[in-house]
Amino acid sequence: MRIVFAASEMYPFAKTGGLADVAGALPKALVALGHEVKVILPRFRSIDPSLFSMETIDEFEVMIGQQRHRVEIKAHEMAPRLKVYFVEHPGFFDRESLYSDGSGDYPDNDQRFICFSKAVPEILRRLEYQPDVIHCHDWQTGLIPAYLKCTYQKQGLFEKCRTIFTVHNLAYQGNFPLDTFPLTGFGWEEFTLHRMEFYGKVSFLKAGLVYSDVLTTVSPNYAHEIQTEEFGSGMDGILRERALDLYGIVNGIDVKEWDPQTDQALAANYGASTMIRKKPVNKAFLQKENDLEVNPKIPVIGMVTRLVEQKGIDTVAAILEPLEKARIQLVLLGSGSSRYQSLFTKIAGQYTGHFSFHLKYDEKLSRRIYAGSDFFLMPSLFEPCGLGQMIALRYGALPIVRSVGGLADTVTDYHQDSESGNGFVYEGSTAQDLLGAIDRAVQVFGDKKLWTALQKNAMKCDFSWKVSAEKYIELYKHARRKTALR
Ligand code: ADP
Ligand code: GLC
Repeated sequence: MRIVFAASEMYPFAKTGGLADVAGALPKALVALGHEVKVILPRFRSIDPSLFSMETIDEFEVMIGQQRHRVEIKAHEMAPRLKVYFVEHPGFFDRESLYSDGSGDYPDNDQRFICFSKAVPEILRRLEYQPDVIHCHDWQTGLIPAYLKCTYQKQGLFEKCRTIFTVHNLAYQGNFPLDTFPLTGFGWEEFTLHRMEFYGKVSFLKAGLVYSDVLTTVSPNYAHEIQTEEFGSGMDGILRERALDLYGIVNGIDVKEWDPQTDQALAANYGASTMIRKKPVNKAFLQKENDLEVNPKIPVIGMVTRLVEQKGIDTVAAILEPLEKARIQLVLLGSGSSRYQSLFTKIAGQYTGHFSFHLKYDEKLSRRIYAGSDFFLMPSLFEPCGLGQMIALRYGALPIVRSVGGLADTVTDYHQDSESGNGFVYEGSTAQDLLGAIDRAVQVFGDKKLWTALQKNAMKCDFSWKVSAEKYIELYKHARRKTALR
């Protein structure tokens, strides 16, 4: 099949979270199944043209309201049948970060992603390329299915092409004031309750949910959850209406990128058979580099996360004292909202020797945390899929997770009598609930034989992309058979 991906992040080019991992790995898995994939991304500053060979292949103008914007299109051949196209517009994309700076979201995010979304089908038209499907990801690309339906297909272009829209996180919606609407170029008939209007605003996410032929999200459990008021972020009504077109496909991880046997960042490489001897070397290294007591008997909990409310950060702040009392070490690597950044920067000093906080984005350190920790914590309030717990399992760090979204789909709770399971899953949302789970986990940690058995279960889990990529192909085929949504 001919598949086009439109996304605002893709590992290794631009990343703030799991979306980048998915947009980096899924295309490779689709190519491995024999298909052809073109990925289209904005050319952010982090994408250094001197590091990736790319050639300018086109240049054209995009209208945003009454203003003409010039974009340049660069192409990079990643692998046979896998090409990446970058939409270059320095005024919009050559910035320090992807979506926001210290003072909040960039005020022109509407224009930035109108520009990107208009450029995507235009590139394909000018290349005279007929994709079977365009697979869009999150609100930044929500307008693309709308441009396809309302503009191109009405002109008889891309008539056979179908659009798939994947929700990686329903909480990020790209909702903009009414003034944004004229900038999109759509007629006012598209600004209704059943189209792009969302409580008086224009919602790019809603556009994706309304105009796409097929909808997916990144785990079966989250696909159910988002149809409820509790997890629906105001979009549950529209998702219930589209329930028959909504599928949950769990993410995989790139098992070559995330492999403790070859990971260059580790103090010692290991696999399931060498884990017992080599993982402790990584643990000791992590304890040492974090000024924690180097002692194999003290449990180390790792956490690598965006510091945002979604991730249950408040409960983490609330357990620092009980953890210290219980002599449990915690290493936290994260960056995100200024509220949490300053909170942890302020309180970290009170728990030196037990709690180590790194305020940054650091992939190498994240790898050492996955390898050196005994447990990996994800007390998320909601979690569409979550990749951290899958990486942790692969590195033999047992996840302690809240029973939500993809966490519930990928982590199986340890049951005392069965020696089955690969981690610790808990209900409830309070610090007490979390401490209860940590307590259970630490008890198992004290039983060497059982502990090793669980670590082996964890490392045996197969989270490679192949199975999920096959599911996407089935879905693309299904979308092709559908009559285009009008
Ligand atoms: P989300 O996409 O909601 O942030 P996921 O668990 O799906 O959550 O994916 C998070 C990804 O980002 C993982 O690959 C994780 O290792 C990485 N990550 C998050 N924060 C950091 C950080 N501060 N430094 C390095 N990697 C991080
Ligand atoms: C989002 C979600 C996360 C998911 C990732 C990739 O960032 O928060 O749960 O794993 O997208 O789909």
